Amino acid sequence: MTRPFYIIGFMGTGKSSLKRYLEKSNHVIDLDEALERHLGMSLPAYFARHGESSFRAEETAMLRNVHADYIVTGGGIVERSENIEWMRRHGRIVALELPFELCWGRIKDSDRPLVQLGKRSVEALYERRRPLYAYADVTIDASLSSEAIACELDRLKEEDR
Ligand code: S3P
Repeated sequence: MTRPFYIIGFMGTGKSSLKRYLEKSNHVIDLDEALERHLGMSLPAYFARHGESSFRAEETAMLRNVHADYIVTGGGIVERSENIEWMRRHGRIVALELPFELCWGRIKDSDRPLVQLGKRSVEALYERRRPLYAYADVTIDASLSSEAIACELDRLKEEDR
């Protein structure tokens, strides 16, 4: 197995769609799915029952337990600087970047817990996190197709071997 590429980016940048392409020829772990299995409930249910800070603790612990060619993270992984440090130390960080309005259009009708806070709060979150995503080793324009991004990442991974 190669050292992992950690895929980061705000909600709605297309991480899950990218994952479907990466999976065709790589071992990929989706951190949110791994957490749902571990917690035995959906993330919205977990947020409602235990709150965001418990979720961040679980997310931080799970990040340290997963090994794969690609690890697709939830949008808030950058909330803890120790996670950014971990990802930098153990692999390469790839950020998907997309303007807020496009992200919002994709997520506004979803059941993601933070989306329930409303557009203004989510936009403030986007702005606050923007410099954190910039810690990535590679930033990719997420308006490209997921297939094209997956191709580019597999090329980068080949170079990284
Ligand atoms: C979150 C993003 C979600 C999920 C959780 C918190 C965030 O993942 O981890 O709802 O804080 O941005 P996606 O980015 O895959 O939607």
